[in-house]
Amino acid sequence: MKSILAGKKILFGITGSIAVYKAAEWVRELTKAEVEVTVVMTEAAARFISSLTFAALSGRRVYTGMFEADAGEEMTHISLAGECDLCIIAPATAQSMAKFANGFADDLLSTLVLACKAKVLVFPAMNSNMYCHAATQANLTRLQEYGYGIIEPEQGKLACGDEGIGRLVAWETAREKILSALAPQDLADRTVLITAGPTWESFDPARHLSNRSSGKMGYGLARAAGRRGARVILVSGPSAIDPPPGVEIVNIINAREMHDAVMEHYKSADVVVMAAAVSDYRPAKTMQQKIKKGGKLLDLELVPNPDILKKLGQKKKKAKRPLLIGFAAESSHHIEEGRRKLKEKNLDLIVINDIIGKDTGFAADTNQISLIDRDYGLEKLPLLSKEVCADMILDKVVKLLQ
Ligand SMILES: Cc1cc2nc3c(=O)[nH]c(=O)nc-3n(C[C@H](O)[C@H](O)[C@H](O)COP(=O)(O)O)c2cc1C
Repeated sequence: MKSILAGKKILFGITGSIAVYKAAEWVRELTKAEVEVTVVMTEAAARFISSLTFAALSGRRVYTGMFEADAGEEMTHISLAGECDLCIIAPATAQSMAKFANGFADDLLSTLVLACKAKVLVFPAMNSNMYCHAATQANLTRLQEYGYGIIEPEQGKLACGDEGIGRLVAWETAREKILSALAPQDLADRTVLITAGPTWESFDPARHLSNRSSGKMGYGLARAAGRRGARVILVSGPSAIDPPPGVEIVNIINAREMHDAVMEHYKSADVVVMAAAVSDYRPAKTMQQKIKKGGKLLDLELVPNPDILKKLGQKKKKAKRPLLIGFAAESSHHIEEGRRKLKEKNLDLIVINDIIGKDTGFAADTNQISLIDRDYGLEKLPLLSKEVCADMILDKVVKLLQ
C-alpha cells in the first residue's frame, strides 16, 4: 500500500556517535516506506558500523569519502546535495554540529550540508555534559539561525552510563519531524477545526449508546493539517488515541457538548472538517441510578440530537465561510447518499466512507473513500492508509480554498 513518504529522496548523514546502530533501523523504516535513501557516513561513523550494513538496508551505494569519485563521475558533494528533498543528520555528533555551525567543509558530509539547498534536520545524540556545554549550545543556536531543524534529544539512561539529556529521539518522533519537514506549508495561516471520534449518549450512570468510531480518521486529519502549517482545533469525543503534537484539543463526551464546542470555535476557523461520528439520537432521559436487571422488555425512548453540520451549512449561506467538509459513513447507495447530504447541508466537500468493506471504516488503519465537491465532481480513491487519505482530503481542501 502506498506510503505517505513514497518517492521522496532523503540524504541521510550519519556521524560517529554510539547511537549509529539506531540509524540502521531508521534507514530500514524509510526504505520500507519507499523512500530513496542515500547514506553518507563520516569516517568516525564507519568505525562504529560498516557502510555495508547501510548499503544493504538502503539498497544503494553508501558514500563516505570526498575523493572517492572515479574520473568522469559527477562531483559527489554537489550532485548529492542537489538531488534530495530533505537532508537528515542522525545521529549528529557534537563535532559534526560544530563543523556545520562554522561552515567547515573538510569531509564529504560537512561539504554536502554546506552545498545543500533542501531543508536539513539535525538529530543530536551525545553525553549530556557534551550536549549542555555552552559551545554545543551556541552551535545549535547558530544552526537554528541558519534555518536548520534541530530535534532535541531525549532524557534517559545514556550509553556511557550517565542519566540525562542526550539520547537520540525515538523513530516515531523522527518520522513525524521528517513528515512535517516534507509537507507543503499550504495551510499556514489557516485555522482548521476538526471533529473526531464517537459521542457517548448516557442513559444511566454506567451505560451509554455510542458507535464504533475510533477517531483514527479525524486524528489523522488533525495531524496532517498541523504538518501542513495549520492551527488545528480538534474537538474530540472519547478516543484512545494520543492527540497529535501542537493541536489544541477540546474533549467532549456527548453530541450536545460537541455542538456547543463547535459553535464556540467555528467562527475563528477557515475550514471545518466534521469527521466525528456524532450519535443521531440520545436517550430522552438519563437515569440517576443504574437500571436494574429484570426479565421484562426495556423501552428506551430516543430523541434526535442537533445536526451540527446542517446548522453550520445554514450559517455558511450568509457568511460564505468557513469551508465545510462533511463525512458520510454509508453501507449502501454511497454516492447517491453523499450527493444528497452535500446539497442538503450546503457542504463544499463530502467524504464518503464505505463502512461495509473489509479494510475500511471504523477502527481500520485503511479506508476506501470517495470525494464529492460542491460542483458534484466525484473522485473515487482506492484502498489507502488513513494517513494517505487525510493528505488527499487536505489536497482537495487546499484547492477549494483557492
Ligand atoms: C565509543 C564512542 C562513542 C562516542 N559517542 C559519541 C556520541 O554519542 N556523540 C558524540 O557527539 N560523539 C561521540 N563520540 C565522539 C566522536 O566519535 C568524535 O567526536 C568524532 O570525532 C566524531 O566525528 P564525526 O562527527 O566526523 O563523525 C564517541 C566516541 C567513541 C569512541
